[in-house]
Amino acid sequence: MSLLGSGANADAGTQGMVDDKECVPYRMFEIPHASSGSTSERYAKILESLAMITVGESNLIANLANTASILYRSLPDVLWAGFYLYDGTELVLGPFHGNPACIRITMGRGVCGYAASERMTVLVPDVLVFPGHIACDALTKSEVVVPLVHNGELIGVMDLDSPLLDRFSNEDADGLERIAQLLMSRMPA
Ligand code: SME
Repeated sequence: MSLLGSGANADAGTQGMVDDKECVPYRMFEIPHASSGSTSERYAKILESLAMITVGESNLIANLANTASILYRSLPDVLWAGFYLYDGTELVLGPFHGNPACIRITMGRGVCGYAASERMTVLVPDVLVFPGHIACDALTKSEVVVPLVHNGELIGVMDLDSPLLDRFSNEDADGLERIAQLLMSRMPA
């Protein structure tokens, strides 16, 4: 278990940032470590942390950026965690952690485009057998994509990639769907 206050933000403290009102949530904020606990315990902690860091914040980009960071740092065997946002025509790369990725994805194309157009979570145990999979990183072997929908409107998708085959379970899908719900609940009604 690591506390951000003892890591990067401790440095921020020496620069006088810790006392800034804007930085207070970071001190309170705990990131579950990738190697600790069961999958359900890990998602419970991630949700708790995200609930804390997003409370009172309705800016979608800010909340997605922190979520990408937390997912990338908290989940084992994940090489990319992030979002594509729907611009009314196609999916456009949003906040993420990992290597640079494809910028635009046509609706219906790849795992992201399929999940977005069907508005359903898609678990891909082996990307090589998913028709039309878009290989942003040749190391990716499995993937999960969860749609983000607010008031019936498609906002985008959450995408996680792994270098392991069959990395993501239904438990991961459930946890990520709950995270997607939390993020959507932070958007203005
Ligand atoms: N593999 C995705 C493309 C996005 S990257 O994985 C970040 C897809 O097939 O839609």
